Amino acid sequence: MSSPQAEIWERYAAKYTPRRTVNAAGAATWLNWTQYPDHGPDESVLGDVRGRRVLELGSGAGANLAHLATLGATCTGVDLAPSRADVAHRTWGHLGELEFVTADAVDYLSEVSTMFDVVYSIFGAVWFTDPRVLFPLVRKKMNDGGIFAFSQPPATPQRDEAGQVVRQQHLAVPLWRGHLCAAGFGEIVVETIDAPVAGKPGTVLISARAA
Ligand SMILES: C[S@@+](CC[C@H](N)C(=O)[O-])C[C@H]1O[C@@H](n2cnc3c(N)ncnc32)[C@H](O)[C@@H]1O
Repeated sequence: MSSPQAEIWERYAAKYTPRRTVNAAGAATWLNWTQYPDHGPDESVLGDVRGRRVLELGSGAGANLAHLATLGATCTGVDLAPSRADVAHRTWGHLGELEFVTADAVDYLSEVSTMFDVVYSIFGAVWFTDPRVLFPLVRKKMNDGGIFAFSQPPATPQRDEAGQVVRQQHLAVPLWRGHLCAAGFGEIVVETIDAPVAGKPGTVLISARAA
């Protein structure tokens, strides 16, 4: 195992429950931005992905990315937990232009020579990586006009635990906006999606264009 973070995410992956084979609409693949099934907007947030090169940061078992492959995108998923790439390949590898890579998002973006049209993250690496480091790297590997989008729960006050290995980025929306602008993104759209059930946390979905 390459890092303490990867070990933690591998333990998380061991408890993973595979997604249902069919959603409420009867679809075998779909993209879900929120933590609740059959809830929230679909992949249209990313624009038309047909023929586009798409990168997911923290792709987990690959179900969201697989859906974009069925729509004609050329897809790369990056995840820190080593078992995720295997599981994703086995489950979805037959669906089209799909590759899954085991890497830290920052390391991957620092080294890859590919340019992407769409980069997104769903409760993934964006939520767990300092945006001052990650966002400039994302912008550098995106074609002008491309879409960068990510979702996570709304910011809540956190205790700063000394020695914490995995840190969630609990940023208020103005801070996310500031980091996006500083990294060269514009046309920022923020959507707060209420939970389907009262009293549960909602989802913040942010998208921006590579200016
Ligand atoms: C909460 S899970 C979400 C997985 C997937 N996006 C989904 O919606 O099912 C977070 C995922 O991000 C990955 N991850 C966390 N930090 C990462 C990083 N720095 N680089 C790459 N992947 C990371 C974890 O291994 C894990 O699979």
